[in-house]
Amino acid sequence: MANLCKTFVRSFASSAQRANVFNHVTVIGGGLMGSGIAQVAASTGHTVVMVDQNNTILAKSTSNIQKSLERVAKKKFAENPGAGEQFVKDTMGRITTATSPTTCVSHTDLVIEAIVENLDIKKKLFRELEAIAPEHTVFTSNTSSIPIGDIAVASKRKDRFGGLHFFNPVPMMKLLEVIRIPATSDATFDKLLGFGKDVGKVTVSCKDTPGFIVNRLLVPYMMEAIRLVERGDASTRDVDTAMKLGAGYPMGPFELSDYVGLDTMKFILDGWCQNYPDNPLFQRSPLLDKYVAQGKLGVKTGEGFYSYKK
Ligand code: 3HC
Repeated sequence: MANLCKTFVRSFASSAQRANVFNHVTVIGGGLMGSGIAQVAASTGHTVVMVDQNNTILAKSTSNIQKSLERVAKKKFAENPGAGEQFVKDTMGRITTATSPTTCVSHTDLVIEAIVENLDIKKKLFRELEAIAPEHTVFTSNTSSIPIGDIAVASKRKDRFGGLHFFNPVPMMKLLEVIRIPATSDATFDKLLGFGKDVGKVTVSCKDTPGFIVNRLLVPYMMEAIRLVERGDASTRDVDTAMKLGAGYPMGPFELSDYVGLDTMKFILDGWCQNYPDNPLFQRSPLLDKYVAQGKLGVKTGEGFYSYKK
């Protein structure tokens, strides 16, 4: 009887645990976002290939994933460090790296592009992938600000094209924005929502509009903070303190700008300013431009609005 019970519990557990929508995921771009996406996909049972230009970049991305996984494991398996070590090892074991996207998409189920925010480069990439990826492969972009429809122009599989917009730090932020263009099929959209669930995120959907939901609200807010300081109304430190203690935000707008990267902020804003020159919320900022020109891009370069040099 006891054995019968165990068998029932086992088979119930395995049938309740449904398979992932996609098995093999190719993440193109090993930066902050790409490596975070590769990490969460691998830690939820997907086989992942992470692609970037050279092995030096990939080695750094892999080491960042390892460190981040160790932080996750420390919390998740606080009572059982051995299980935590196994989790890190198993997850790392599901990630391989490659320097050419075209060599690894011939057997992939999902492509997530997380490369530089440049429309021409993204289009060139998808044009190349189109020729090699199998029919069933779904193409997505993690772009922060470029319309998905503009990128999808480069692909013939517009019904299997969409947006998956993650947030930094990807392992911690629970949200995933899922974007469909008019041509995205219902089947593809459902798969993308299912993938979001598989990687443990809460999904929201939005039309293919500038910044989708989060960046459409967050970037103008951060830019207003910069303009406030440009006018000399308050200091960066006081604005950050005000928003953390007066509005309950985990980071102030300047800390968050440094965290996201001032170059990323500028890419987003420049694109919007070019496409919507009359929107006052999308105007360029001399202060932001100055920092970017000086190579002060935030945490990643050791200096932005604040200094991170030890
Ligand atoms: N990997 C794994 N775990 C991490 C992590 C990472 N990269 N970053 C933080 N953690 C976890 C760890 O468990 C850490 O504990 P540990 O230090 O003992 O390892 C715990 O979070 C707490 O971290 P911290 O003490 O460093 O700091 P916080 O408590 O402030 O949390 C934060 C950090 C989660 C980043 C929090 O400050 C936060 O939510 N900030 C806002 C982030 C945000 O708004 N992101 C969206 C940006 S917009 C975007 O990405 C869109 C793009 O298109 C621009």
